[in-house]
Amino acid sequence: MLEVKNLHVEVDGKQILKGLNLTVNKGEVHAIMGPNGSGKSTLSYVMAGKPGYEATEGEILLDGENILTMEPDERAAKGLFLAFQYPLEIPGVATMTFLRTALNAQRKTRGQAELSTPEFMKLVRDAAAKLEINQDMLRRGVNVGFSGGEKKRNEILQMALLQPRLCVLDETDSGLDIDALKIVADGVNRLRGPDRAMVVITHYQRLLDHIVPDVVHVLSRGRIVKTGGKELALELEARGYAEFQDEAALAS
Ligand SMILES: Nc1ncnc2c1ncn2[C@@H]1O[C@H](COP(=O)(O)OP(=O)(O)O)[C@@H](O)[C@H]1O
Ligand SMILES: [Mg+2]
Repeated sequence: MLEVKNLHVEVDGKQILKGLNLTVNKGEVHAIMGPNGSGKSTLSYVMAGKPGYEATEGEILLDGENILTMEPDERAAKGLFLAFQYPLEIPGVATMTFLRTALNAQRKTRGQAELSTPEFMKLVRDAAAKLEINQDMLRRGVNVGFSGGEKKRNEILQMALLQPRLCVLDETDSGLDIDALKIVADGVNRLRGPDRAMVVITHYQRLLDHIVPDVVHVLSRGRIVKTGGKELALELEARGYAEFQDEAALAS
């Protein structure tokens, strides 16, 4: 479903990703782990199409189509979703309105009819309840005055409604206490399925106790330097990232 080939990315003239390769098949959950500053968020941003993150070489294929030439909304309509490490606040736009607009925009692009108000309300209420998001939060501006944990739950709510085929989660565990982590992880696990792929980016192994990945990659200095099974995350937790930083330093 996702093929990242020889991806080189520059930010502000600085080379951050230096030949990254990654293949994720339908139904799989891949974890990307790595030290701070290794390029994890850069990878998520270039996939989503954030301005300023320029791919200078390589390609990102979603179902064989290069998404690098597409606008962010086209990528979203193709089924790509990014849960941000630092979700933005959008004052003046009620969360409910935001969710409805996003969902209907995607439906329209796919040639589907807009949902009626009652249909949408039922969908959002059910999804919100599972994530312990209350009606008051849905009426407030997007993420405005939300706690760190509430912002992350709100990202998962968007994902639950949009039902993306490729979910990229950037440090969705950061800033969560154990109860919030459980709610978020359960929300993610409910979305696992044979037709959906996930890329879970995290610095810590902790999240992967709850979202058990099929494959674990280590990202260091802009490249995937090691790939293994879920046990690789435990090894990293025990030994830290120092050895991978050294390997990448030798290779670059
Ligand atoms: N907007 C930016 N301008 C300049 N440098 C950036 C910018 N965004 C990221 N970087 C640099 O790119 C590198 C990788 O950052 P990032 O992708 O955020 O890493 P990670 O998410 O793995 O911690 C870091 O050295 C960071 O300083
Ligand atoms: Mg990051």
